Amino acid sequence: MDDIINDNIINDNIINDNIITDNITTAWGSDCVCHNQKKEELLTIINNYENIPGSLITVLSHAQRIFGYLPKEVLYDVSSGLKTPLSIVMGVVTFYSHFSTTPKGKYTIRVCNGTACHVKGSRDILQTIQNRLKIKEGETSQDLKFSLETVTCLGACALAPVMMINDMYHGKLSSQKVNEILSELVEN
Ligand code: FES
Repeated sequence: MDDIINDNIINDNIINDNIITDNITTAWGSDCVCHNQKKEELLTIINNYENIPGSLITVLSHAQRIFGYLPKEVLYDVSSGLKTPLSIVMGVVTFYSHFSTTPKGKYTIRVCNGTACHVKGSRDILQTIQNRLKIKEGETSQDLKFSLETVTCLGACALAPVMMINDMYHGKLSSQKVNEILSELVEN
């Protein structure tokens, strides 16, 4: 009887996990060399952390660095490698905004909308970017070149208004300065 109940619980978890990941982009279809190298790197990292408690966020961060985002198969690998239920993995991924289950652009633009930046015109900066790239906050351009996000503070309030493009800060922005920065990236 106990075995039947346990089997039902396991099956329920599988069904729930399938529902949870149904809307997540799949990435494992490819057999290309670079893709296999990425998967190998991920599995090495999972092996390194599998016996270290509380390492889920670290492993997910590495996974996102390797793949650029967190596709369904990566989440399955992290879940089984760390022996952590997929529902918990998904809970962490959806809680932290810097994790993404959809592909990101080559350049991720983060516009600060914290108090200091808001007072100094961050909404105009955001509008300038949206007009120029034809994407809205939270979107990625179709050519996968740009993703646009807003954040509450980038920790550089003295430079307000501020944005980051990947790891680089750009401060004391004006619409003209933003357009100049974007022009360089659009041509790259
Ligand atoms: S409020 Fe924008 S960097 Fe702090």
